[in-house]
Amino acid sequence: MVGTHWGDEGKGRIVDYLSHSADVVVRAQGGNNAGHTVMVGDKKYVFHLIPSGVLFPQKVCILGDGMVIDPASFVEETRFLEKEGVSFSGRLFVSEKAHIVMPYHRLLDRLYEGLRGKEKIGTTGRGIGPAYEDKVARWGIRVVDLFHPDIFAAKLKPILEYKNRILKELFSNPPLSYEGILEEYLQYAQYLKPYVRDTSFLLYTAWQERKRIIIEGAQGTMLDLDHGTYPFVTSSYPVASGALLGAGLGPCPDIEVMGVCKAYTSRVGEGPFPTELKDDVGVYLRERGGEYGATTGRPRRCGWLDGVVLKYAVRVNNITSLVLTKLDVLQGLSKIRWCYAYEVEGRILEEFPMDPSLWPLCRPLYKEFEGWSESISSVRSYKDLPRSAQNFVESIEDFLGIPVVLLSVGPRRNDTIVRREIW
Ligand code: IMP
Repeated sequence: MVGTHWGDEGKGRIVDYLSHSADVVVRAQGGNNAGHTVMVGDKKYVFHLIPSGVLFPQKVCILGDGMVIDPASFVEETRFLEKEGVSFSGRLFVSEKAHIVMPYHRLLDRLYEGLRGKEKIGTTGRGIGPAYEDKVARWGIRVVDLFHPDIFAAKLKPILEYKNRILKELFSNPPLSYEGILEEYLQYAQYLKPYVRDTSFLLYTAWQERKRIIIEGAQGTMLDLDHGTYPFVTSSYPVASGALLGAGLGPCPDIEVMGVCKAYTSRVGEGPFPTELKDDVGVYLRERGGEYGATTGRPRRCGWLDGVVLKYAVRVNNITSLVLTKLDVLQGLSKIRWCYAYEVEGRILEEFPMDPSLWPLCRPLYKEFEGWSESISSVRSYKDLPRSAQNFVESIEDFLGIPVVLLSVGPRRNDTIVRREIW
């Protein structure tokens, strides 16, 4: 399940919806920078680390190899679930290979952003970039390291000395305490221990037993470190191949790559967004769509659905079916649009340009449709949607050559139209 744009496409609620007939739900990359919102009845759940499938009893939920895990966030989220009466004992597992977000990652995330000034990325401030940076530099602390106090202490010492030098010399920041971190993280180790497994092995076994596995992507294609709008990206791989990499699975057969795409586009943080609307329609979409960051509360930038980005996402992920979410948010607009190409200084661009100097020049070209005024949230059958909504959906399908198999028409679990059974 991959996001087609810049995240916040509604993956969490779709994963939740599909989980009732799945066996295993996995997060493969990212960390608590994600915010997956799920509504069950009138109750709203926001997950940052734990896969959205956790709300269904008996589903196995995995935090996979490719994740960066902030143990404080894991404790908070599991305690919240306990309070809500959601039992997850014996079915929630954390990869021993996942990396740990440390206090200096969170601190440096914010300090680096300050250093960038006007060129800042607009990160979530959760330490995700610095944690992946250490992973690649081979300074990272992994979940498994926490269970060997001597190894952990020996690893932490030089890393912290190095980080404290950066903090002091570059940022005039007081040093972080070695003993304090050691003590805090050894306590987390006790808390985490019952959950930790070789999750890649668990997944391989599940796959061999022909279990149904959902890999729940976090963020979106355009936030991918390699394939997104670099440098305005996250530090992991939200694309489909990153999902397998982070789950510890090879390119096995029988995979369906579902792209989750909102009926309009949003983005939180800095970076290019050709279809952004800075007018009343943008505000309308934000307010009707509740487009405020689930992790940071920041207002999301909103605009018409960017089909150029969507076509790119279909290509780099090899998306085989599409889920269109939040169609109901478009209700009440007299005209609705989606962008099929950009015009750049008189030239038509049909592919998303990866040259940043072109981004400010992209002028979106739109297909336009009549809007509809009636509520569609209680519609459960595609044929009962207003004709104009169907036209909108079918024009996107024609453009991409892949089917829209699911649509969401309201925030609740069952506000969903199924056009093709998934499993
Ligand atoms: P980071 O992942 O915190 O380093 O942030 C990098 C960029 O990705 C920023 O623009 C964030 O706003 C964006 N981002 C990270 N996670 C999410 C998400 O789950 N949804 C939407 N945007 C995200």
